[in-house]
Amino acid sequence: MVTKQKDILVAPSILSGDFGRLADEAKRIEESGADYVHVDIMDGHFVPNLTLGPRALAAINRATNLFLDVHIMIYNPFDFIERLVEAGADRITFHFEATEDVEEILAYIKKCGIQAGLAFRPETSVEFVPKFLTQCDLVLMMTVPPGFGGQKFHSEVVEKVRYVRETCNQYNIRFGGKIPKKGETLPPFLIEVDGGIDNITAPFCIEAGANVLVAGTYLFKGIEMAEGIQKLRACGEK
Ligand code: DX5
Ligand code: ZN
Repeated sequence: MVTKQKDILVAPSILSGDFGRLADEAKRIEESGADYVHVDIMDGHFVPNLTLGPRALAAINRATNLFLDVHIMIYNPFDFIERLVEAGADRITFHFEATEDVEEILAYIKKCGIQAGLAFRPETSVEFVPKFLTQCDLVLMMTVPPGFGGQKFHSEVVEKVRYVRETCNQYNIRFGGKIPKKGETLPPFLIEVDGGIDNITAPFCIEAGANVLVAGTYLFKGIEMAEGIQKLRACGEK
């Protein structure tokens, strides 16, 4: 499958930025030509790390006009949705493994007027994914165990991405689970990968069907950000 360059969206993960200068980091992400700011929210329980909360998200929101792609790694995700929406989240992606109320939470996020995403740990069976495809705007396939930046890419997730993309194609699933009407073109379903993404690992994910790339270490520590974003987008042309 050939994915055109313009189809690839890049989301720098502010987790790898300087937490003492979050507003500046958000501006830098925007000025570097990114599509989203990816914000990781962790609770110290679902994952063994703590990061940012709604107030920090609101500060990021004040600093940039970019779409805020909020990835929550917390138990009881329902408890924080309203506050995160108020703080400026444009999409909230929560973990399948964090709750038994996946469908209710997806519906609630949509009711709040923003996009809903569902994330899967690398080891979770991909068989659980298709059931939710029509209820969310994005599926996030974690390519590292959630919790920390700077981990090694899990290449076994690439085949899971392919399975999700093939399922979307098979049922003609598009953005928001809509079935296109005759003559109507809807944006593609969004499949995001997160963890260990760089110019070496991104082409495998894109070839398998991913179209949203989250990158922390690569864009903040490995390369000048604007150049890194362009390199990631260009991976869609290979
Ligand atoms: C990890 C986070 C990622 C993290 C990715 O749980 O979800 O968004 O920032 O960082 P890298 O790109 O360094 O693996
Ligand atoms: Zn993330």
